[in-house]
Amino acid sequence: MKGIVLAGGTGSRMFPLTKITNKHLLPIYDRPMIYYPIQTLVDAGIKDIMLVTGGRNSGDFLRLLANGKEFGLAHLNYTYQEGEGGIADALALAEHFADGDRICVVLGDNILEKPIAAAVRAFEQQQRGARILLKEVPDAERFGVAELNGDRIVGIEEKPSKPKSNYAVTGVYMYDGTVFDKVKKLVPSRRGELEITDVNNAYIREGSMTFSYVDGWWTDAGTFESLLRATNLVAQSKTAAQRSRAAQD
Ligand code: DAU
Repeated sequence: MKGIVLAGGTGSRMFPLTKITNKHLLPIYDRPMIYYPIQTLVDAGIKDIMLVTGGRNSGDFLRLLANGKEFGLAHLNYTYQEGEGGIADALALAEHFADGDRICVVLGDNILEKPIAAAVRAFEQQQRGARILLKEVPDAERFGVAELNGDRIVGIEEKPSKPKSNYAVTGVYMYDGTVFDKVKKLVPSRRGELEITDVNNAYIREGSMTFSYVDGWWTDAGTFESLLRATNLVAQSKTAAQRSRAAQD
């Protein structure tokens, strides 16, 4: 399986933090934001990775990450999204890289406490289709929200004012090779973007969407509040891990 990190867009919600740098290069505790989604893929055993960048400071990604040696990678692939046409517009740029293989996509501002390896293995066992990761949250209206019927997902609504569940669709998406055909059929939403939720609903309609629940905490980091929360969560996890290592020594 190949990995794709989407770090395009202009980060306009976080102005002036993003006036002179890219949102995904802002610090989350002791690492730049972009390190976390890359590490999530690497920890799931995915080593063939493409980064979709964008904005005025995209060259900084290359200087920061180079060929991914810090992550134990031999090579990193890069591409550039012009403007901010949406998450699915950024994904479309990876079609050539994916070359018909299955892909695991992680949004550049999504941070997870624990590895996603079990969900990736479950998707590998799946004959076809897609798999997403869900997380129960207190503020579902900020996200794509899953409508569940028993153990089936029957629909996703993007930022609904009255969410049908408390389960947010996180920014981790696994797709088979048909995803790019689905992206090509999309039309821009009211906010003028090609929505990843529309891609996911296309899989739901054809009956091939499955899901796993996120293990541990999950957060985005694309607003001032969530950037602070992400920093605090990472700091707490790292301090707890250090304490437990010290206790074992
Ligand atoms: O964090 C999970 C949520 O991410 C999902 O629950 C939503 O369904 C999904 O639409 C998305 O919502 P956001 O409104 O938080 O997405 P945002 O526009 O903040 O973009 C998230 C990341 O996606 C961003 O850090 C980089 C990438 N992106 C986004 C856009 C709009 C791109 O690469 N290109 C883009 O044009």
